[in-house]
Amino acid sequence: FKIVCMLSGRGSNFKAILDNIQNSILKAQIVCVVSDKQCAGLEIAKQNNIEAIFLDPKGLTKKEYAQTLIKTIKPYKPDLITLAGFMRILDDSFVDAFEGKIVNIHPSLLPLFKGLNPQKQALEAGVKISGATVHFVTNELDSGPIIIQAAVGVFENDTPESLADRILKVEHKIYTMAIKLIIESKVAFTKITSGYKAEFK
Ligand code: GRF
Repeated sequence: FKIVCMLSGRGSNFKAILDNIQNSILKAQIVCVVSDKQCAGLEIAKQNNIEAIFLDPKGLTKKEYAQTLIKTIKPYKPDLITLAGFMRILDDSFVDAFEGKIVNIHPSLLPLFKGLNPQKQALEAGVKISGATVHFVTNELDSGPIIIQAAVGVFENDTPESLADRILKVEHKIYTMAIKLIIESKVAFTKITSGYKAEFK
């Protein structure tokens, strides 16, 4: 089961997935890591002898960048593309090219707090519970069918950073759980008349 991981930053979710491959919890391999930034996540890939590919979006339109991504990733024939802190909105053409095979992790209980700074959004909204969501990616930002969620408490003295740290701990657990469900065909992305759903078996 081949996974391509896309990221833009420190890569802790990528590392958590990799750890769970190395300890055989996930029967998979990460065939390459792709980033739109020169970042720590790419360095982790190199240290682990995983192909680390920096694709510079500079000077490219969203469509052109998507074409570059597709051309780079297609030859790896991924069974799954995991977005792990990939901080760029993907063009529809990319999502269509890998339909049903892209998952994302978002640090809120979707459909609440889509987009940027969800932890800050949660604090501003005054919610007492937040968390993380792994979902299939569709053409609508942070809106694809939900595979798994985990909740954490929001505390009186929380800052966006302290809440982000608490959420990150559960992200590292549920991303692996979601991938395991997909590998074992216990959940599948399916089309229905009103859109898409995650079908559980
Ligand atoms: C995570 O909080 C993820 O949910 C969000 O970006 C962050 C990436 O962190 N989309 P890391 O690079 O995996 O450490």
